[in-house]
Amino acid sequence: MSPKQTPEGVWADQPFKLLDTPGKDKPLSDPVVYVASHMALVHNTFIRALNSIYLHAPLIATSNKSLSRDLLSYCQCWVALVALHHQTEEKFLFSAFEKRIPAAKGILDTNVHQHEEFHDGLAAFEKYVDGALAGKEEYSSEKLLKLIDGFSEPLMKHFNDEIPTLMRLEEAGQGEDVMKVHEEFEIHTSQRANTSQQAKVGPMTLLNADKTFEGGKHPFPVMPKFVPYLVKYLISRKYAGAWKFGSCDYWGQPVTLFMNTPEGKKALAVGKA
Ligand SMILES: [Fe+2]
Repeated sequence: MSPKQTPEGVWADQPFKLLDTPGKDKPLSDPVVYVASHMALVHNTFIRALNSIYLHAPLIATSNKSLSRDLLSYCQCWVALVALHHQTEEKFLFSAFEKRIPAAKGILDTNVHQHEEFHDGLAAFEKYVDGALAGKEEYSSEKLLKLIDGFSEPLMKHFNDEIPTLMRLEEAGQGEDVMKVHEEFEIHTSQRANTSQQAKVGPMTLLNADKTFEGGKHPFPVMPKFVPYLVKYLISRKYAGAWKFGSCDYWGQPVTLFMNTPEGKKALAVGKA
């Protein structure tokens, strides 16, 4: 999919490329297509959020304490979301597939090995973000981008590779089994996030899940109607300053990136010579 150039400027579908879903040209009524597409949509929320970080970081001056702090908070919430996703995959999803579909054994091993390939880079990013938020280090956009460059390649490869791997489950088992595991995974993920994690991952997910993606054909994220209200008016409060960097509103509609809004341009001018 080519980058969206809105009249206001670039959007969060670059520089890291969003994933096409298998459901783009296959029926979502096929459980394996549905589950693999769902995973691609989850990964795309991570990619949009990382793109927003990557696009905003160089525009923020080191002396712009307030805005750099907000971006660092956004980075911290992003790390929490990606970490929760990978922990849940490793501790629950992959083994659940293997338990229910014996022929799936081994298919997903590559994905777990790939987690190791970006682990250290991601940990270095997290350490810097936490240190800068704790006042131990200064905000430096060069450092932030360099750290992202340190893990982005294996991370993007992993995000991409996991989708065809999940599609291979079609050969290994019946669709109903795949769907059953997926449903259990959704429940497990929502129960696994404690209140402090929810304050980070809830808004981060909703504010980067573009419901218009691929013509709006995907029912993602699936949740009761009250949830976006709950997240917007209650759960988002703890990291209120971070959410300006989101790429969508709480109902999944793309918004103009902060950097391209009049308010954002004014905020980004602070500390510039
Ligand atoms: Fe994944």
